[in-house]
Amino acid sequence: MAFSPAFLDELNHRNPIEDVVGQYVALTRKGSNLFGLCPFHGEKTASFSVKPDKGIYYCFGCHKGGGAVNFIMEIENLPYPDAVRFLAKRAGIEVPEDNRDNSQYKKKERLWALCKESARFFNDQLKTPQAQEVRAYIVKRGLSNATVTRFGLGYAPNAWTALIDAMTAKGFTKQELLEAGLVLQHKEKGTFYDRFRNRLMFPIIDVRGNVIGFGGRVMDDSTPKYLNSPETIIFNKRRNLFAMNIVKKSKQGHIILTEGYMDAIALHQYGFDCAVASLGTSLTQEHADMLSKYTDEVVLTYDGDQAGQNATKRAIPMLEKTGLRVKILQMQGAKDPDEYLHKFGADRFQNLLNGCENQAEYRLRSLQRNFDLNNDEQKVEFAKQAAELISTYSTAVERELYGMRAAEMAGLSHDVMKQEIGRAFKRRTAMQKKAQDKKNLEIAAARQPHSREIRYDNLRSAIAEETVLKMLLRENALFEKTKEVKPQDFSVPMFAKAYEALYRVWSQEHSVGIYTLSEVLTPTEMAHMTEVIQRQDHPISEEAFADCLRVILTEARKMSGVDDLKALQEQMRKKKGYGGT
Ligand code: CTP
Ligand code: MN
Repeated sequence: MAFSPAFLDELNHRNPIEDVVGQYVALTRKGSNLFGLCPFHGEKTASFSVKPDKGIYYCFGCHKGGGAVNFIMEIENLPYPDAVRFLAKRAGIEVPEDNRDNSQYKKKERLWALCKESARFFNDQLKTPQAQEVRAYIVKRGLSNATVTRFGLGYAPNAWTALIDAMTAKGFTKQELLEAGLVLQHKEKGTFYDRFRNRLMFPIIDVRGNVIGFGGRVMDDSTPKYLNSPETIIFNKRRNLFAMNIVKKSKQGHIILTEGYMDAIALHQYGFDCAVASLGTSLTQEHADMLSKYTDEVVLTYDGDQAGQNATKRAIPMLEKTGLRVKILQMQGAKDPDEYLHKFGADRFQNLLNGCENQAEYRLRSLQRNFDLNNDEQKVEFAKQAAELISTYSTAVERELYGMRAAEMAGLSHDVMKQEIGRAFKRRTAMQKKAQDKKNLEIAAARQPHSREIRYDNLRSAIAEETVLKMLLRENALFEKTKEVKPQDFSVPMFAKAYEALYRVWSQEHSVGIYTLSEVLTPTEMAHMTEVIQRQDHPISEEAFADCLRVILTEARKMSGVDDLKALQEQMRKKKGYGGT
């Protein structure tokens, strides 16, 4: 639906960008602008800026930007109309002619309310006589009352419609219960029944504090051990981590990542208020990105079994990609943190945490396990593979340090190991350079015009020229900024022609369009120009425009420099009587 310009004007006025953004990002003022850590990509230095006078935000790192509505769309993951409604609600203004029924955001609000009521219901059930068994189970698992309260644990009664009855009495519909994943519908009869029955319930809460789903555990050895809410419009397993709502306030310098609800909960109970769990799925890049917003270091405490080790290997690169430091905690004598804590206590766990290996050591040690280092042949093979591994570490310090470690493990001299690593490193960089060259060529080829009649000889300049022309056509006022650039500075003849014509018309009419070019460009050139213009590109910004102009000028000077040099060489050859070719 379209909102009236007057309403949107009021909306923007009542939602100053710095206030809207300020609710999500800690901002510091620098002059008339504000800066903070970008909430859309993991970063350690503030490249996210807010310009109150223009009503915009922009990240110089990931190039996201826009106004208050864009910000809400992005951060709350809402479509445009819902982001508008969100801001209207925030500012306490009425949305004119709002169609209440089909708003996605309204629906989400209903489901959040429903899940919250359900969590309350399950929690209340703990006090009933029927909850005797679950109370005993809670004691057996060593959960304190404070923990039960803190995590809002509950009990889903052993009945078919207990939740349905309680929630419909509160005004929620069966349809809503279905959409929240709390009930199932019988295939033939069409009747509804509770999804969670006779289970210990773990509410799953998102970072903003909304209950979005549940995990439910059986109290014996039956299967499935855990039953989880399905994906719904408010519950996305790829993007949420259990206990993140608590952990985001933790003052610890790291976040402990576990595999299970019970592990995260036990850690909190034992004083580690920085533990989260993935929701019965493997770690995703979205999880890693989210973690990187709240901490610099993640400690992995996956199970010691093969599956856990594989999960660890998978998680490391995803976490490191976001700039997080990764440490791996390995336990002996217990299969997971929950068991470990109950067996050995918090101090022993703290010791593990203090001494836990970082991922470089971990990888080296896992490699070592594959070899019998008393056997010479295997020793050589270990040294080779260790060198290969260590050559991937990006800093010289790391390569030196772990080279020493590996040499010690294999009982080889440090120098030999160092040479081996050096060779592996050279091989790797040579390979990377080759791959990069190939990629550059491919990019260049992809940017070349489809028509053979038009060639980009100077790709760097040509791409800048494309952008300049595109921006000028979209924003005529930018012609004011082009004073220094002359048509002859353009490296692509057809762009020089186009620029000359556009500039001429603009000087007279102060308005130009692509139609202006039909007259001066050949049909082939015109086709290429159209292709360039329709291509999706960065939004217009004066900075980007100025950058492109600079590129065009620098490249033009380089080229004329080359020409001058050639002319000079020619002259000298003639003088010395070498005779030129
Ligand atoms: N899980 C699941 N469905 C299952 C089994 C496990 O969703 N059938 C998820 C749960 O999130 C669980 C996690 O995987 O917390 C780890 O599973 P597991 O190690 O088997 O359980 P624990 O967390 O150790 O639970 P408990 O100690 O209660 O056995
Ligand atoms: Mn366990």
